[in-house]
Amino acid sequence: MSTATYHRSALAAQMAQQLLRPSFLDTSLRSGLFLSGQRRVGKTTFLASDLIPALEALGAVVIYVDLWSQPQANPAELVHAAIRKALGELQAPGSGLLKRLKSVTGLDLGVAGFSFGFKLAELGKPGGVSLAQAFTEVVDQAQTDVVLIVDEVQHALGHTEGDAMLHALKATRDAINTRPATPGHFLFVGTGSHRARVQELAVKGNQAFNGAVTHEFPLLGREFVDHVLAQVQPQLGDKTPSGEVTEAAFRAMGHRPEELMKALNVLRGLPVGTDANTHLPTIAQALSAAAADIELQKVEALGALAEAVFARICGMDGDARGLFTTDALRAYSATLGRDVAAPEVQAVLGQLMGANLLMRVRHGHYGVTDPLVEAAWRERQQAIALMQRAS
Ligand SMILES: Nc1ncnc2c1ncn2[C@@H]1O[C@H](COP(=O)(O)OP(=O)(O)OP(=O)(O)O)[C@@H](O)[C@H]1O
Ligand SMILES: [Mg+2]
Repeated sequence: MSTATYHRSALAAQMAQQLLRPSFLDTSLRSGLFLSGQRRVGKTTFLASDLIPALEALGAVVIYVDLWSQPQANPAELVHAAIRKALGELQAPGSGLLKRLKSVTGLDLGVAGFSFGFKLAELGKPGGVSLAQAFTEVVDQAQTDVVLIVDEVQHALGHTEGDAMLHALKATRDAINTRPATPGHFLFVGTGSHRARVQELAVKGNQAFNGAVTHEFPLLGREFVDHVLAQVQPQLGDKTPSGEVTEAAFRAMGHRPEELMKALNVLRGLPVGTDANTHLPTIAQALSAAAADIELQKVEALGALAEAVFARICGMDGDARGLFTTDALRAYSATLGRDVAAPEVQAVLGQLMGANLLMRVRHGHYGVTDPLVEAAWRERQQAIALMQRAS
């Protein structure tokens, strides 16, 4: 069973309005908007299917980049590449982006595309045009707003080049938005799966987006549940659970659409006459435990050293440093019963990050990517400790 995307057009239109045509109270959004929500709750889907179209409908040029698309890549390079691509399209006569812009804003460019006073290929390269300069030219020629959306923006933290890129974006925002008669604004929207880290971007004085606004990503709720139930009703028949029970199960599974579909699929496999409302809560509970388990099994599969490193990080409240100190190496060696050297730890750390289990928080600091997985790890440790005490 699968379900078509449930659109949240009204929510998207409202957000687009607040970003692009802010009332007095919403003008702080011009400093940047960060949306934080846990993993797999539909952040990317909302951006792609609802928010981007809503922003474009109001005439904005939207540039989207997902820093999680390639976890090992340099985040600054990913952002620069997305910007070069979009600006390249603006230069190309007849490109889709240019056509849409002309049709929405009524911009008169004749047949030509944009022409920039800098070499696009050098954007993001040492000595190349600054982002502030590049976007000022875009705003002036397009006579409209530019919105840069960075999905999983927390991955830019803890990278020298990522930090520099965030500061360059802040400089861009300040250069464009403070002009008294600017024909458009530069808006920055970031999303992230780790609330604390996303908030850090906006609140800490040392971060680039001091003054920006942080919101919780609006989770899918009862309307989505009803939409899904209406779609699966023909297949489930009498085994269709009630809206109330399904909503509670959806909540218990962390508002994750995929988990809901899995749970409904389990119901479908049960014999005719099964009382769905009795069984769905149990199924939901089992599935959410299983989801975190899969992630923990990935750690196990990477070997004993990976487990020891992961444990050390969890033991430090998800913001660990000093993973290579003599102390740390001695502790790994004791756990594994053999000598462990720093390069080995480095390699394992690379694997854990490649699997999206760990991420860099700041330079030299590491944390668990998914807070639910970290919580599951703690629960498991408590269970193990209890069993050891009992035996
Ligand atoms: N509005 C929706 N209607 C139907 N399915 C949805 C909707 N939003 C999300 N989903 C489904 O939920 C899953 C997760 O969605 P998505 O990748 O957008 O979440 P995310 O929060 O960006 O996840 P991640 O933390 O991995 O980046 C996908 O399989 C997607 O198809
Ligand atoms: Mg996503």
